[in-house]
Amino acid sequence: MTRIRPRLSGVPETLLWTLYNRAHEAGQRYAVLDDPVALRLMEALDYPFEERFGRPNAFYSQLQGLRSRCFDLAVREYLAERPRATVVALGDGLETGFWRVDNGLLNWLSVELPEVAELRRALLPASDRVRVLAGSATDPSWLDEIEDPCGRGVVVTAQGLLMYLRPPQVRAILAACAERLPGGVMVLDSMGRRAAAHTRTGRWKVGGMTIPPMRWAMDPGERRKLRGAHPGITEVRALRLPRGRGAMGELVRLQSLLPGLRALTPAVTRLRFGDGPCGGGSPNGPGAGNVPGTVPQ
Ligand SMILES: C[S@@+](CC[C@H](N)C(=O)[O-])C[C@H]1O[C@@H](n2cnc3c(N)ncnc32)[C@H](O)[C@@H]1O
Repeated sequence: MTRIRPRLSGVPETLLWTLYNRAHEAGQRYAVLDDPVALRLMEALDYPFEERFGRPNAFYSQLQGLRSRCFDLAVREYLAERPRATVVALGDGLETGFWRVDNGLLNWLSVELPEVAELRRALLPASDRVRVLAGSATDPSWLDEIEDPCGRGVVVTAQGLLMYLRPPQVRAILAACAERLPGGVMVLDSMGRRAAAHTRTGRWKVGGMTIPPMRWAMDPGERRKLRGAHPGITEVRALRLPRGRGAMGELVRLQSLLPGLRALTPAVTRLRFGDGPCGGGSPNGPGAGNVPGTVPQ
């Protein structure tokens, strides 16, 4: 097998770190995430993971395994009602959610920056129900790619993405989804303000990689403000991580619940978009309100 050497930097490189952690967890006995495709991806990549990111970290591996499972559970819940839905994964990196949740009917659309879209196409198994769109999640033209959004339903996921965008970009994405995807849901994660501010000092490192600056942040207590992005957002719900494995799993769970500590790792939220006229249209227009966020210069 010819292995592929990814040449990524900045935010795209962070996808290798999340993959590294997820795959490490998937390789454990009684793993919290069953992900054989992630394990195969690791073999197909010619990349000095350990040299770049250090040895796998038991806390982060389990946290990221649980975070992916939390997204999977939310997607599955929606598919239980609308099995032919399209899942749009914004900033999908080398995530392998399709192979974990596939029910044989859904369609999957990954929206990724061109260098990552190319990697996905080269490395992941092809399926006529999986597409990769090379472009930015901030360009709303990906919404035109969804087939019959009102009839089949749509779940948009943004895992590990929005914190790297600017607050107006986040607001515009949420507003466009609420406007164009009535009856759909969006599952996203966010970093707390303190942790995001720390990334902007340039001093938060994972092995040899500096975590890129996070521009949008939201403390868990601020979630309800997300409704302000568009009147079509009818529900904002905090999603809890599933139970983990052993003592480390308990630690991950406690950390994600304790007020002083939970803002240090990503919090998962589900938005529901009310049934409205198909094709969108609200009296107040998109982006009418505010999404909490930091706007560093
Ligand atoms: C932390 S990684 C997360 C990857 C994957 N979702 C995961 O959880 O493993 C951030 C991802 O966002 C992607 N990304 C950054 N800016 C983007 C943009 N404007 N549009 C689409 N994807 C973007 C990067 O290429 C990268 O894959």
